[in-house]
Amino acid sequence: MIKLGVNLDHVATIRQQRYTPYPDMLTAIKISESSGADSITMHLREDRRHIQFEDIKIAKKNINTKLNLEMAATDEMCEIANQIQPDFICIVPEKRQELTTEGGLNVSRNFDKLKISISNLRKSKAKISLFIEPDIETIDLAKELGVSAVELHTGSYAEASSDKKSYFLNEITSAADYAKKISLVVNAGHGLDYTNVQEIARIGSLNELNIGHSIIAESIFLGLSEAIKKMKNLIGNA
Ligand code: PXP
Repeated sequence: MIKLGVNLDHVATIRQQRYTPYPDMLTAIKISESSGADSITMHLREDRRHIQFEDIKIAKKNINTKLNLEMAATDEMCEIANQIQPDFICIVPEKRQELTTEGGLNVSRNFDKLKISISNLRKSKAKISLFIEPDIETIDLAKELGVSAVELHTGSYAEASSDKKSYFLNEITSAADYAKKISLVVNAGHGLDYTNVQEIARIGSLNELNIGHSIIAESIFLGLSEAIKKMKNLIGNA
């Protein structure tokens, strides 16, 4: 079964909006793990708009599954990752003005910079992944950089109108199959929700889906535990 990585950024978003001590991150981690999360993802952004350094420290100390740290390829973040030692690192592009990550890394333009960051991150012993568009050339470049995994951006599929969905789905399927064939672990995420996850979860070459916003939104009505179980069931029954 495809695994589910639960992204807890938006638990921190609610807390940071008023700088309250609640909702408590450790409780969110514990509920996520006991409800079936296979890993916990946190994106420590340069502007610290949601996840704080303290959150990833707490996560690293208390997680029983795996910690996946999303980060930009900056010197500051490489230092933090080497200090925290997460299980996985997913390098993402980051722009200060964006509402959320807007797309995959431009690997060809940033090849040398990524090479340096990946080499700096070797001290962390984490398995490194690149968040990329579902594109064969970019997958080849990721392989050349020596990372063990890629996370394919599903945002274009998620946002597409119903007549264009199958185009993006085919693109993701071909890219996932190709990446697996060249021995990369293939994850996917961004924009996945309760209505669109099953088509992606039928792609057999995928290892894990990383999902955040829709789960935290659904937890307003169902509670975090039921929201995660509902997503796990959809993935499991796809
Ligand atoms: N994967 C990556 C690399 C991301 O940056 C994000 C958003 O932080 C996600 C997955 C999760 O996206 P969403 O919150 O839309 O489920």
